[in-house]
Amino acid sequence: MKRALITGITGQDGSYLTELLLAEGYEVHGIVRRVALENPDHRMWRIRHLQGRIKLHAASLESYPSLFRTIQEVQPAECYHLAAQSFVSYSFEDEFSTMNTNVNGTHYMLSALRAAAPQCRFYFAGSSEMFGKVREVPQHELTAFHPRSAYGISKVAGFDLTRNYREAYGMFAVSGILYNHESPRRGFEFVTRKITSNVAKIKAGLAMELRLGNLDAKRDWGHSRDYVRGMWQMLQLDEPDDFVIATGETHTVREFCQLAFDAVGLDYEDYVVIDRQFYRPAEVDILLGDASKARRQLGWQPEVGFEELIEDMVTADVAQQTEGRGLAPTVA
Ligand code: NAP
Ligand code: GDD
Repeated sequence: MKRALITGITGQDGSYLTELLLAEGYEVHGIVRRVALENPDHRMWRIRHLQGRIKLHAASLESYPSLFRTIQEVQPAECYHLAAQSFVSYSFEDEFSTMNTNVNGTHYMLSALRAAAPQCRFYFAGSSEMFGKVREVPQHELTAFHPRSAYGISKVAGFDLTRNYREAYGMFAVSGILYNHESPRRGFEFVTRKITSNVAKIKAGLAMELRLGNLDAKRDWGHSRDYVRGMWQMLQLDEPDDFVIATGETHTVREFCQLAFDAVGLDYEDYVVIDRQFYRPAEVDILLGDASKARRQLGWQPEVGFEELIEDMVTADVAQQTEGRGLAPTVA
């Protein structure tokens, strides 16, 4: 039985990846913050249904000794490093903590693996935000990076660290350059879930408007379940390599709104209000990925399209609202 270790197991991708690895017969271990263990109902809602089938370890991305101890104890064959401060907007409010968590956390993981489990295969969660002010459209593995936020910069640093551990120390360490991927488990602060959760509230008569920033920003949106499959496939290769994972389709935030409101028979123009506070100091205007290398070498391709993704998210939020399983918080 293969053993895998996941950081960020309580996040959107961590939860879907855990399901995939369990289905593939892995023994799955996850690193969580101690506060999560103390407050499982709130902090572990995405993996609640998996408890009893996974092993959780309290450790902190800020603490090298805690990561080293966990890796030494678990001796994983594969490690998926997903934990990060992942909200781009927040990285403008607190550049320092974003850099500390994302850069040092990745460095500690790589260094601890090298010392305690050097044969372990390592996946780093890189991002299309590394392309930032894009040099070309679509972007591929050789497109130059030009990050536009502390978050993007932290991911470029993580990408470089991962490549360096591969080249300098011969570790099987790879980065996925993943474009936006969403699901009913997406955090409420990200634009897609903010839209679908508020569509459900408006439909139920519990909200009157939805305040958003730049409706003309374009993203290449896929489904998280498809994207975690790409992560796993990367670690099954004979030789380590980096891959773009994307749908190859780009849509505006406005289109997302239109389809989400359409799904419940409402017109987005009656409810969406533009609010300057949701604009970013530096925006990434158009992200569109070319995943042809992943298609060729991994056999990866997305199964869920844009409209199906929105349908899935709106349906889940409307059901949650109807069943009274807790309201989506209004995100500032
Ligand atoms: P997410 O839902 O925000 O999950 C982030 C995870 O990181 C959570 O488990 C969180 O734990 C953990 N975490 C955050 N700060 C931490 C800290 N200081 N110490 C320990 N754990 C910490 O993110 P996601 O959407 O699943 O994304 C997974 C990874 O892929 C992230 O690295 C993200 O940057 C990257 N990525 C995501 C996308 C996307 O579109 N989703 C695209 C490209 C790259 P708590 O639950 O305790 O907060
Ligand atoms: N969050 C948010 N809230 N975004 C808004 C809003 C709003 O009210 N209004 C417009 N937007 C626009 C943002 O300006 C951005 O252009 C776009 O919607 C998407 O924003 P997010 O959903 O917050 O995601 P992101 O693209 O910044 O970052 C996500 O994808 C990256 C991959 O490209 C995150 O998951 C990152 O962790 C990930 O690396």
